[in-house]
Amino acid sequence: MKPIIFDVDTGIDDAMAMAYALNSPELEVLGFTTCFGNVPVVESTRNTLAVLEKLNRRIPVFEGAGQTLVRGKKKKYPKHVHGEDGLGNTLQFEPTIKASKGNASDFIIEQVKSRPHEITVIAVGPLTNIAMAIKKAPKIMSLVKEVVIMGGAVNVQGNVTPYAEANIVSDPEAADHVFSSGLPITLVGLDVTLQTYLLKSKLDEWRATGKESARFLAEMTDYYMKAYEISHPGLGGCALHDPLAVGVAIDSSFVSAEMMNIKVVTEGEETGRTIGQQVSGPGIRVCTKVQADRFVKHFLERVI
Ligand code: BDR
Ligand code: CA
Repeated sequence: MKPIIFDVDTGIDDAMAMAYALNSPELEVLGFTTCFGNVPVVESTRNTLAVLEKLNRRIPVFEGAGQTLVRGKKKKYPKHVHGEDGLGNTLQFEPTIKASKGNASDFIIEQVKSRPHEITVIAVGPLTNIAMAIKKAPKIMSLVKEVVIMGGAVNVQGNVTPYAEANIVSDPEAADHVFSSGLPITLVGLDVTLQTYLLKSKLDEWRATGKESARFLAEMTDYYMKAYEISHPGLGGCALHDPLAVGVAIDSSFVSAEMMNIKVVTEGEETGRTIGQQVSGPGIRVCTKVQADRFVKHFLERVI
């Protein structure tokens, strides 16, 4: 089993990715760390706890960054995509389980220190917690086994602006810091996630299982798909951004990649853009192709 720290900004596709990871025997999720992103951090923590409660799992959750590295608080949250509550307005309860004491970046550092070269970090929100961990303990970070990041749009258009993807543009300086840190990164960006689709018909199959957790995921994903009907008319479903990062952590053969240096634009109208330059030596593994059908089948076999 791969020991995992899962950094989330929960979020509807984060919730699907959580269920997929927790139902995958290859992964041992040691803890979730939360960040602002789809919602403010307090709500991202609450949503993470709520999803765990619905899935009937007890895994430590550590709250992290409430704001960007240098730009202060995020100004606008994507309620049209993830709902008022971040879970498609399905959250009708306050989770009874509580977050653990301690901070997200400290938890990452502690775990990496105690298990050198073993820990994989999956990060599916803004990269603020990871950047803070690097800043606090640069030497310890060289002991991370792998970081699988959902973020960026290297050879394709962005989803927030024509240039920028949501996780990167939410904290461009943090992303740039992480990408230039030398960490062993696999970047799962829109280049590949926008080729992975969950069709609306699957939600009825989830509901038909009669499982409470499946119904919960189906209801929130229904909301998410309505946002896709506007942004991607005719698609009949949604992309599986955060779940693909989990898929790649389980089985890297779902994707093929090119080695690149990645620079993040931090000024002007292209802010948040991820500019890739191919390298022959060490760099970031940027996923450029995905075996979408094989991945989606794997996801569907496990998510509910
Ligand atoms: C990413 O942005 C967030 O809205 C999603 O949860 C995903 O992590 C997609 O661009
Ligand atoms: Ca996310």
